[in-house]
Formats: sequence, C-alpha cells, structure tokens
Amino acid sequence: MTLTLSSLTRSFGGFRAVDSVSFSVDEGGLVGVIGPNGAGKSTLFSLISGFLAPDSGTVSLFGEDITRLAAHERARRGMVRTFQVPREYAHLTVRENLLAAVPGQSGETLRGLFLRPAAVRAEEQTARARVADAIGFLRLSPVAETPAGRLSGGQKKLLELGRALMTNPKLILLDEPFAGVNPVLVAALSDHIRTLNGRGIGFLIIEHDLPALTRLVSTLHVMDRGRIIASGAPEAVLSAPEVREAYLGGVS
Ligand SMILES: Nc1ncnc2c1ncn2[C@@H]1O[C@H](COP(=O)(O)OP(=O)(O)OP(=O)(O)O)[C@@H](O)[C@H]1O
Ligand SMILES: [Mg+2]
Repeated sequence: MTLTLSSLTRSFGGFRAVDSVSFSVDEGGLVGVIGPNGAGKSTLFSLISGFLAPDSGTVSLFGEDITRLAAHERARRGMVRTFQVPREYAHLTVRENLLAAVPGQSGETLRGLFLRPAAVRAEEQTARARVADAIGFLRLSPVAETPAGRLSGGQKKLLELGRALMTNPKLILLDEPFAGVNPVLVAALSDHIRTLNGRGIGFLIIEHDLPALTRLVSTLHVMDRGRIIASGAPEAVLSAPEVREAYLGGVS
C-alpha cells in the first residue's frame, strides 16, 4: 500500500471540512476524488501532503506514519502535490521553474559552493538533464525559455506536472489538473498521466471534469460535506443514488 489515510479529520472553527476520511492508494494506483464545491477535497490534499495538520487521524506512506512530517519531508519520501491554482514563478522561464523544483542541490548552500565544486557541477548537470527530459516529455520545448507568467492555463498545468516530476515522485496528487485547460491539452495531459502511471508512478487526482477523469482512473472516491460517501469503480460510483443526490443537490 503506497498511501493509507485513517480517520483524517480537520475543522475550521466549528466546521468540519474533512470528516473522518479513510482510504488507501495501492502502489502505482490511479485514483480519483470528486465532489461538489466545498466538499473538502483540496483540504484533504493539504492534510495528505503536509500543508495542513489534521485535528485527528493519520497519514501513512509506504507503511511509515508521516502525519507529523513537513511537506518537503513527505516530498523526499516520494509524494508530491500540485495546487488548484498553479504556483509557478511568473518571472522565471519554464526551464528555470523546473530547475528550481529539483530538490536538494548542494549548490544552494555555501558549503556546497566552496567545498565541493566538482560534485556541485555534476549535480547541476544531472538536474539540467532531468529538466530537459521533462521539457521533451511534456512537449514544452517551444516555451522552454518563456517566462511562466505568459503561459496559457493549460501550459501552466503542464508545468505544474513537470515541477512535481522533478522530485522523482512515486505518488503525485493533482488538484484539478484539467480546470481551465482546452480539450486538446486535456487529452495530452491524460496521455502523460497514463504514460507516467505505466512507469509505476501512482496518482491521486481531484477533478470536476468527470468524463475525462472517468476515462483515466480505476477507482473513484466521492466526497460530500467532508465525508467519503461512495468509493469504487467509476461507472458504479457515478450511478449510485447518494452520489447523484450530492451532485444534484437533493433533486432526483
Ligand atoms: N483555511 C481555511 N479556513 C477556513 N475555512 C476553510 C479553509 N480552507 C477551506 N475552508 C473551507 O472548507 C471547506 C472545504 O474547502 P475545500 O477547498 O477543501 O473544498 P473543495 O472540495 O476543494 O472545493 P472546490 O471543488 O471548490 O475546489 C469549504 O467550506 C471552505 O470554505
Ligand atoms: Mg478544491
């Protein structure tokens, strides 16, 4: 089991945004999370990735309890997230954004700069090669030297995925990767996700584009008012009465 969530709960004031959520993602799994606006999906991702602390419950990654680890420590263990609103550095180019996302470069420390220049250079070369690979794979070559602030919404989502890949992850959490993305890029992004999944990278994906998500994932969890109300194969889950009710606001 790659990721296991046990009774994760988080309130804001008296309001339970995430209410006793438990589920697992298998190694190399491709799993979706859907639910109406305000259901608690992004808050759940923040609890999983370490950007928010739960009030109670645990997060385990590869059998290790990581509930109290900082986000960068979780990333180092192989789990990264993207954000609903992309967080690129607008003034840096696409290539620079990707380079900045490669973790643990000793050149960033004085010690690394002065004591081991050869090792630092080798690391930098490896990082640059990894960035070049990602640019090729994501077909971002035409905009590689463009400031990220000038990219289209879809290109920014590709860059988000690229930045996640720089950490060499085993599990990637994507928060609405298709939002504001044109259909051609949605298809391209889906292909990239499938290819990466074929290489063994697991995905947990929040998405409102149900047709695109259903084509991609093998398991769906439906969240409503902080709770998981249905889980299983996409077709079965989407036809469940409680799920239809959550989406239609009680009209059946
Ligand atoms: N930092 C916060 N402080 C107070 N309330 C918050 C905070 N973050 C989220 N909430 C509230 O928690 C609830 C769940 O929000 P969340 O962003 O997790 O929903 P979501 O399922 O991702 O929705 P959407 O589909 O619109 O992105 C909402 O009512 C939101 O207003
Ligand atoms: Mg959200």
